[in-house]
Amino acid sequence: MAENRIHIFDTTLRDGEQVPGCKLNTTEKLELALQLEALGVDIIEAGFPISSPGDFEAVAQISQQIKNATVCGLSRAVQKDIEVAGAALKHAQRPRIHTGIGTSDLHIKSKFNATRDEIISRAVQAVKWARNLVGDVEFYAEDAGRTDNEYLARVVEAVIAAGATVVNIPDTTGYCLPQQYGDKIAYLINNVPNIDKAILSCHCHNDLGLATANSIAGVINGARQIECTINGLGERAGNTSLEEVVMVMKQHKYMGYYTNVKSEMLNPISRLVSDTMRMPVQPNKAIVGANAFSHSSGIHQDGFLKDSLTYEIINPEEVGAEGSKIVLTARSGRSALAHRFEKIGYQFNRNDIDVLYSRFLEVADTKKEVVEADLHQMAQAYKPAMATN
Ligand code: KIV
Ligand code: ZN
Repeated sequence: MAENRIHIFDTTLRDGEQVPGCKLNTTEKLELALQLEALGVDIIEAGFPISSPGDFEAVAQISQQIKNATVCGLSRAVQKDIEVAGAALKHAQRPRIHTGIGTSDLHIKSKFNATRDEIISRAVQAVKWARNLVGDVEFYAEDAGRTDNEYLARVVEAVIAAGATVVNIPDTTGYCLPQQYGDKIAYLINNVPNIDKAILSCHCHNDLGLATANSIAGVINGARQIECTINGLGERAGNTSLEEVVMVMKQHKYMGYYTNVKSEMLNPISRLVSDTMRMPVQPNKAIVGANAFSHSSGIHQDGFLKDSLTYEIINPEEVGAEGSKIVLTARSGRSALAHRFEKIGYQFNRNDIDVLYSRFLEVADTKKEVVEADLHQMAQAYKPAMATN
């Protein structure tokens, strides 16, 4: 198997930006592209240049500013699209054209009213047009998740022979199970004779909540690029979340896979993307959600306060999060209450805490969260003389 470095292809500025309400202007795209480069992604899919003059301009400006990452532009398997993508990428240090066409029988019949052989000819032609413009061409077999594996292998072999350097196997509709998607990648690795000439890429959508699991299954079976977005943004239920796949590989180091992403930038960039796109991150989102490092149940809080490893597999600093939080709710326990009192300067013994805990539960039952001001009130009503602040 080829080397274990996994290339991170970020498509926040293309698939992520397709989310209704997330549209970015050129300045915003450029700022995010520079941050993505600093984060350490290998490829930035900057946009779909033929889609609008604004997107052409954004891809062109990003191409001029980005020095280390590959800058990629999307196109359909249409000559004009490919030429426009090539023009937008003209000044990129490392340009890549991403072109492709639907390969499932459903797409072939319903979208193109074509035959399987005609689709292969169009795919090959598109890759050749793109290779005349840039040395790095990625081909996407749209709806590969629902494409028959034998036919998909023929497509992949043909586009590699035509010059594709990367072949993207999108689960466009988020349909596959991890085992199925992994088997698909394994089938291609084992049945495409020229597969050693290209990298296979995972592009998984999250319609069934399986995008991260499917991408990791793809890597385990031989793919060496993952297409993903910050905060898992993307069409419909979104794409594979960058922060999740990066941390899966970091947490399971024994598998041997690694990326160049600087994990301590994950939370700051998540907030930047959320603010710039005005798209909030769900609080329970893995790695970057507001509750990713919050502990609220008494059982968890007690264990966490004895040894944080009991309930946290990631050190918040490792992903640039603010830190772990002990949140007080009606489900919290005495250790958490004592801990929070201590944090704001009150030292109580066990008997004090027993008494205060009953009062705490009365308050907690009336609200979602007991906050610092409530604790001060309780402490001062109990034994004002003991307060140290
Ligand atoms: O989901 C998909 O198939 C895509 C392609 C354009 C790569 O986004
Ligand atoms: Zn997609």
